[in-house]
Amino acid sequence: MIYSKFLSVGAYAPENIVTNEDLSKIMDTSDEWISTRTGIKERRISKNEDCSDLAYKAGKNALEKSGLKAEDIDLIIVATVSPDMFFPSVSCIVQDKLGAENATCFDLNAACSGFVYGCIVASSMIKTGEYKNALVIGSEVLSKLLDWEDRSTAVLFGDGAGAAIITKSETEGIIAGATSSNGSKGGSLSCGALDVKSPFTEEDNIKHKKLIMNGREVFKFATGAMVDNINKLLEKTNISLDEVKYIVPHQANVRIIDYVARKINEPIEKFYMNLDRYGNTSSATIPLVLNEMDEKGLLQKGDKIILVGFGAGLTSGALILNW
Ligand code: ACO
Repeated sequence: MIYSKFLSVGAYAPENIVTNEDLSKIMDTSDEWISTRTGIKERRISKNEDCSDLAYKAGKNALEKSGLKAEDIDLIIVATVSPDMFFPSVSCIVQDKLGAENATCFDLNAACSGFVYGCIVASSMIKTGEYKNALVIGSEVLSKLLDWEDRSTAVLFGDGAGAAIITKSETEGIIAGATSSNGSKGGSLSCGALDVKSPFTEEDNIKHKKLIMNGREVFKFATGAMVDNINKLLEKTNISLDEVKYIVPHQANVRIIDYVARKINEPIEKFYMNLDRYGNTSSATIPLVLNEMDEKGLLQKGDKIILVGFGAGLTSGALILNW
């Protein structure tokens, strides 16, 4: 039996901190509104680094902690919705910067669920026996997709990257994943790609090119999907929540996490959060949290942890693992 496990984690966030107070100087908002509705106090906003710069730095950090060499990596998956360009992929750019010449590279778009999806894909590929050491990165420069004149979305997001090395193992690390998607609700959180007019249609074929969101619809989907995926995982693995030490949720909004904690009857302390300092960095939130927990020594070998996310698409996914 081939298993897969997390070997190391890493992270990188731009130095530039933008507080709620800073935002209130450029738009009609306040620290009070943002803090009470979301839990966010500040976020990092990139000044001159793009998605691949953040991804490379987070990936390098995870690689250094793993004890592996760049040439040992045979798979790089970058989960992102804010790549530098359509192609080459961010993962290929990272491969070149790291010198990971033996890696197969591709990007994956499942928005904020992207890191969880990436870990599930990497783990499945390792379990085929064809791959040994995967670098999975969630990296976003969402600040370039935001409509800075829309206070209802601009205050929620930030830039950052997190990474993990997932490796072939003789003992069970990653136990199971659960995923689901609902494309019919895609319009509740979307961002157009290019501002071009198609020669084949009368109208503009792209209606918008900045992030737009129906917050209430996303809230409803997020809470339902997170609870469903956690329950699916428990059912399929016969593991009870008492055995789970931490739940690492996608860091969108403290009220979503509070709601989920109440719904599954678990103390909020079991849900680690750092969204007060980073905001919602989409695919990067979960590995940013894992890295912080690891650096604080909170994760012990054998601890059972659930990662759970939701995002545009709409998508949702969860993963249960032994650390
Ligand atoms: N500052 C001050 N006032 C604001 C701001 C702001 N930044 N943004 C909106 N408002 C105002 C609105 O204009 C509105 O005013 P009005 O009543 O005079 O019209 C009022 O605040 C309420 O606005 P709502 O949009 O109804 O606010 P709501 O209570 O729904 O909270 C929020 C918005 C926090 C986004 C909420 O809908 C939510 O938690 N949604 C979940 C989705 C989410 O977190 N998405 C982000 C992540 S998506 C992802 O990760 C996949």
